[in-house]
Parts: sequence; C-alpha cells; structure tokens
Amino acid sequence: MIQLDGVSLNYKDDIPLLENVNLHIPQGGFCWLTGPSGVGKSTLLRMLHLEKKSSTGLVTILDTPTNHARRSILCKLKQRIGMVYQDFRLIPNLTVFDNVALPLRLQHSDEETVQRWTMRILGWMGLEHKKYVYPKFLSGGEQQRISIARAVIHRPNLLLADEPTNALDDYQVKRLMDLFYDLNDLGCTIIIATHNDALIRQFPAPRLKLENGQLWTSDAV
Ligand SMILES: Nc1ncnc2c1ncn2[C@@H]1O[C@H](COP(=O)(O)OP(=O)(O)O)[C@@H](O)[C@H]1O
Ligand SMILES: [Mg+2]
Repeated sequence: MIQLDGVSLNYKDDIPLLENVNLHIPQGGFCWLTGPSGVGKSTLLRMLHLEKKSSTGLVTILDTPTNHARRSILCKLKQRIGMVYQDFRLIPNLTVFDNVALPLRLQHSDEETVQRWTMRILGWMGLEHKKYVYPKFLSGGEQQRISIARAVIHRPNLLLADEPTNALDDYQVKRLMDLFYDLNDLGCTIIIATHNDALIRQFPAPRLKLENGQLWTSDAV
C-alpha cells in the first residue's frame, strides 16, 4: 500500500509541485500518472522512490511509514522498489550485464541466480548479444530496455516507471505493457508516468492527474 497524508513537495523556494495531497493506492494497484511536462511527475516518482523528501506530510511506502524510519529500514525498503528513469541512468562504467544484475547483487543473490535471471531478462529484451557492451554504445531504445530490465529483475513489490516507452517502437511498447501486466498479476503495484494520452487510451487503467499541486484520480477511460 502507498499512502500520502497531507503531503507537500517542492524545490527550495519554488512553487509547490504537491500541496497538502492525500492519496491511497492499494497493494497490487496499477495506475497512470499524467499531467503536462514540467508539472512534477518525475519529482513525485523520485519522492516515492525515497530519493527526495516531502516538505510536509506523511509518506507511507509498501506499508512502511518513511518519515522517521531508520536508514537501514529505508535501504531495505528501496530494494523492494524498481525504478525506470526517464533519462535511463545506466551506470556508465558497468557493462549491460552488470547494470541489469545490480539489484540482485545488492540483495546478495548467489552468482548462479544472478547469471540465470540476468540472461533470462536480457533474452526477453532481445539484448543478450549486448551483454559485454557499455551503455554509451547503445541506442536510446536499447538503453531504455536495459533500464526496464534493471527495474524488474528482482521482482519488486512496487514499480515506478517514468515515461518508459518514449524510445520504444509500437511492438516493443505492447510487449513492455504485457510485462508490466504480468508483474502486476504477481501483486506488484505499478505507477507509470506519461504525458502520452494515446498510450493511456491504448492501455486503459485508472489515472492520477497532477495539476496545480493537486492529484486528481479518475477511473479507466
Ligand atoms: N533538481 C531540481 N532542482 C530544482 N528544480 C527542479 C529540479 N528537477 C526538476 N525541477 C523543476 O521542477 C518542476 C517539475 O519537474 P519534473 O518533476 O521533471 O516534471 P515532469 O516530470 O512532470 O515533466 C519543473 O519546473 C522543473 O524545472
Ligand atoms: Mg518527467
């Protein structure tokens, strides 16, 4: 479960991106996060990923109140979250394989599991042949797929995906959404930020619309 109680969010003295917002998303929820460019979608996802603190209010992630939680609790909690960054954020001095394997290694998975799962997801993405390649030699679409593989490899309980389809073609978008639906069927809560209305129409799900510091919820259309 994700819950926000009276949450405000802003950068330094800037106008608030969220202002006294309440929100409840049950475990296993699936929703779009929408709103025009610059409204604060990426910042909100970063807050849910425990990278940015709210200015006021209570933030509960995966049933864990985070405001006064110890660092060790927050570290463990973060390992249960998958994040697809809008700008991919692959680690430049790690190969494709090591980028994707990172969440498993942070969880101290044994090397056989790391090898098996990493090759499996790379195969699914059609990128096994790139496993020794460094990110700067990949196309935008390849980087996006690697970023998605890294976000899902450890079967997170919460997946936050920031414009995850921008660099993908129609066929890859359909496969990616199937992957997200499969994860969701396994109980993973999924929030996907997009400014692409056509995408939402193609894959209907409830919406969180960010506007004027408020989050408006609406059912699938
Ligand atoms: N690190 C930062 N420091 C200060 N302002 C920022 C920072 N990141 C984003 N912003 C500002 O916050 C606002 C929301 O940005 P963002 O969350 O990226 O919006 P969206 O993802 O909806 O396009 C924008 O006005 C942006 O310029
Ligand atoms: Mg953004």
